[in-house]
Amino acid sequence: MNKSLNLEIAGLKLQNPAMLASGVLGLSAAPLERIVESGASAIITKSIGLNPRIGNTNPTVVQTECGLINAMGLPNPGIDVFISEIYEMKKLEVPIIVSVYGFSPTEFAETAVKAVKAGADAIELNLSCPHVEKTGAEIGYNPKLAAKIVQKVKEDVETPVFVKLTPNTADIAELAVAVEKAGADAITAINTVRAMAIDVETAKPILSNRFGGLSGPAIKPIAVRCVYEIYQKVRIPIIGCGGITNWRDAVEFILAGASAVQIGTAIAFKGIQVFTQIVEGIKEYLEKKRFRSVIQIVGMAHKN
Ligand code: SIN
Repeated sequence: MNKSLNLEIAGLKLQNPAMLASGVLGLSAAPLERIVESGASAIITKSIGLNPRIGNTNPTVVQTECGLINAMGLPNPGIDVFISEIYEMKKLEVPIIVSVYGFSPTEFAETAVKAVKAGADAIELNLSCPHVEKTGAEIGYNPKLAAKIVQKVKEDVETPVFVKLTPNTADIAELAVAVEKAGADAITAINTVRAMAIDVETAKPILSNRFGGLSGPAIKPIAVRCVYEIYQKVRIPIIGCGGITNWRDAVEFILAGASAVQIGTAIAFKGIQVFTQIVEGIKEYLEKKRFRSVIQIVGMAHKN
């Protein structure tokens, strides 16, 4: 593996900047071996709560010309059952970061504690799901509440705590500052953008939940802008996420200020080989531009 791509985020050693984003394939350990073989340097699991949750009724996903709108509704087996999957995931030789949601600071913390006990290398707090009431973005858009959740989780776990922020807010940098002050070790930006689609034949919203979260290429420029704004205000590492489908997208995020990136929706369109393509592409870019390390280009767009 090429050393120019090695990096560290909050003490986690990564072989390259391309991580698997939460929400795609992270509910069971089985398919992840191939994702890691393809080059993913860390796994972020699907969001897990304290109790099992069925999620929304179908349709829960709709494809648009520029991405996917999902309103899965946070389906998951609950942390007590998910623990056995964490044990399995630990056999992969990359950091396992468990995404956690909750309906109160205590619930976030209780779930995080159980995940860490099972072996999670870090926790990513989902303060940004845009389509489930009383959690995600509904609490994560509020800097005070977001800070309270981060503080509580940081009191209870010793692993690094990442916070995934919502773009569905007037000032994402304000949120970033609040969670950094509360002790967050890194920021993931961004989660999906609240969206909807309507069937013109039936004149009805397509998703059973009516609203969902848009991911994929359509949101990439929004995500790059968010990373750029956050980088100007915080010192903790930023992990860019949103519409990354090729190495150029990944490099754009890194130049905006991301130390690493997460890839999700692109797997649905391009297959798991997307990790190999992105990692190879970043490596060739660094060679062509004569940089010794990817770390050298983090936030470079701010100097120009
Ligand atoms: C889901 O599982 O419902 C998606 C999670 C999210 O949007 O954060």
